[in-house]
Amino acid sequence: MKRTSRIPGFYKQPVEARRRLLAEAADLDNAELTRVLAGGGMDVAGADKTVENVLGTYALPFSLGLNAQVNGVDRLVPMVVEEPSVVAAASNAAKMIRDGGGFEAESDVPLMVAQVQLWEVRDPLAATARVLAAERSLLALADAALPSLVARGGGARAVEPRDLGDGLFVVHVVVDVCDAMGANLVNTVAEALAPTIAALTGGVIGLRILSNLSDKRCVRVRCRVPCASLATAETSGEAVRDGVVLASSFAERDPYRAATHNKGIMNGVDAVVMATGNDWRAVEAGAHAYAARNGRYEPLATWRAGDDGALHGRLELPLALGIVGGTLRVHPGARLALRILDARSAQDLAMVAAAVGLASNLAALRALATVGIQRGHMALHARSVAAAAGAKGPEVELVAAEIAAACEVTLDAARRALGRMRARDDGAGLSLAK
Ligand code: MEV
Repeated sequence: MKRTSRIPGFYKQPVEARRRLLAEAADLDNAELTRVLAGGGMDVAGADKTVENVLGTYALPFSLGLNAQVNGVDRLVPMVVEEPSVVAAASNAAKMIRDGGGFEAESDVPLMVAQVQLWEVRDPLAATARVLAAERSLLALADAALPSLVARGGGARAVEPRDLGDGLFVVHVVVDVCDAMGANLVNTVAEALAPTIAALTGGVIGLRILSNLSDKRCVRVRCRVPCASLATAETSGEAVRDGVVLASSFAERDPYRAATHNKGIMNGVDAVVMATGNDWRAVEAGAHAYAARNGRYEPLATWRAGDDGALHGRLELPLALGIVGGTLRVHPGARLALRILDARSAQDLAMVAAAVGLASNLAALRALATVGIQRGHMALHARSVAAAAGAKGPEVELVAAEIAAACEVTLDAARRALGRMRARDDGAGLSLAK
């Protein structure tokens, strides 16, 4: 069955109906979907096997991003995020991007870097020459430490000596980690190779650990958005396009703005990273180090008006993601997320996560360049405020609509609106909460 990521009216359905719609669209078992998601994706026994001193589990919303089409294929995107409007905004922007042909994405071979650090290397030139001359045997030694990775087609690919000055020397061992995130694999390599590298360089062994600046494992996404799709009720598509381009140049010139611009990208990326049980701290560290690779903190995504009059966006960032191992062993929610997404490889997952990042960035810039972020944000935030005020079931939407329309999205206003509503309902002999 060909998947579609277009499910009109999805957000208007109650949660159980959404699960049914997803089960149909992704060809999953609804009972299993419900069992895994209703339980928060992970039970206490699983949590207890994962980290130390466990007391329980801690849930976050698990949502579905819609409308994404990546390299011509519709993708349903699981997103775990606590911030209101991230899922809706990414889905809306993905629809605009779809109008222009969807996302075009490419991903590097999943190469991770193990760093072996050495002290007191007295002759760095000689050390460099000896490490390079020994490359084949070092790679063989690394592969011997990773037999199952080698059996899957991965393994060590290169050694790169680097002189950092003052006797400080580091050797990078580049490893193809296939479908794993790869941290454990490359840490194993770093520890296995350190004594030999120390002997080759004459140095004293220092740190042996991966680098989270996984810049050999980048993903690139492009999109083209027709002006007609960008237009809002008050602003023409051309004006929105020009506003987004100006917002991009602001981020390109100013690190203060670039940080916020990139945060908006990571809203989407991290939600996919979290849903699929990946290490979002590693992804964040890599993304921001990459943003500063030219000696200045820069935006990861940029936007231009194309000769065709459309808005063109591109995003590049390193993404060290896995679809095997790690948390996936103990997290049924993360395993389910990978099935919803239909992730075929770590590279495939990275392309979809980056596409959602570019969509999130477009949504934020479009809002900022027009009505501002607060209108949409507040409308959604109002729902959590209404729920916090005690609204139940259909009361949530009604209270949220009332406080958002009055531009008074506070707990106090929500309590008053709820009180008025219940008094009215009791007068009419019905309670919305029933
Ligand atoms: C909020 O989570 C993200 C934004 O600040 C991103 C941006 O300013 O581009 C809206």
